[in-house]
Amino acid sequence: MASKTNRERDDIGRDVCVDSRAEFPIAVLVSGSGSNLQAIIDILHGRVAGVEVVLVVSNVPGVFALERAKRAGIPTAVFRLEDYSSREDRDRAMADAIAVRGVRLVVLAGYMHLLTAEFLRRFPHRVINLHPALLPSFPGTQAVQEALQYGVKVTGVTIHFVDEGMDTGPVILQQALEVRDDDTVESLATRIHDVEHVLLPRVVELIAGGVVIPPRPGSRMVRIDGLSTDREQRTVGL
Ligand code: GRF
Repeated sequence: MASKTNRERDDIGRDVCVDSRAEFPIAVLVSGSGSNLQAIIDILHGRVAGVEVVLVVSNVPGVFALERAKRAGIPTAVFRLEDYSSREDRDRAMADAIAVRGVRLVVLAGYMHLLTAEFLRRFPHRVINLHPALLPSFPGTQAVQEALQYGVKVTGVTIHFVDEGMDTGPVILQQALEVRDDDTVESLATRIHDVEHVLLPRVVELIAGGVVIPPRPGSRMVRIDGLSTDREQRTVGL
């Protein structure tokens, strides 16, 4: 596909110059190891549904996720909070860098900061997050440990649209998995990661395919057009 330069309007009506060869450019936000970024690169990037990771953004310098992006030839950017006068300023700069690349979906894959309301307004229903529990149970950063300590028999993975709260946005897809009697935080986290590495690329593919319908105003119900839950779970193959 030939590279093209288009003039488009971003979500706050500004004229931006988009230079992209991707049909469905995405940005991935990270703060750590980036195994989920790797799954997106391996399964989708340049291969499926026109998805191309055009930018990897981290709020932490030196994390392995940035190395993974570099190895795949994907541009990276680091936006440290310390380099800005406020969270609003940092997120504005980050949103500018994302918008100028014509990004159609922002994927939080282990990104450990809340995004500002202004950032989210610029990408309405175009920011998704991955969470290692079945929301609304165990929101926050210690989900695996808290689920184990609570003694639940079933936990899982949630992919949801992002709103201003902590892990409170409308659920897109969830996958359950059993907690074993002898599980440790490490063993459970490993099995959760295995599920995440399938579920997250699958949801990105579904969104790129235009079949994920965000909730209507006043509702939290996300629809996946043409796919019943049973069929979807078979498709996901878990
Ligand atoms: C994942 O378990 C995700 O659910 C949580 O952070 C972890 C990121 O892992 N939000 P990785 O950096 O993708 O390996």
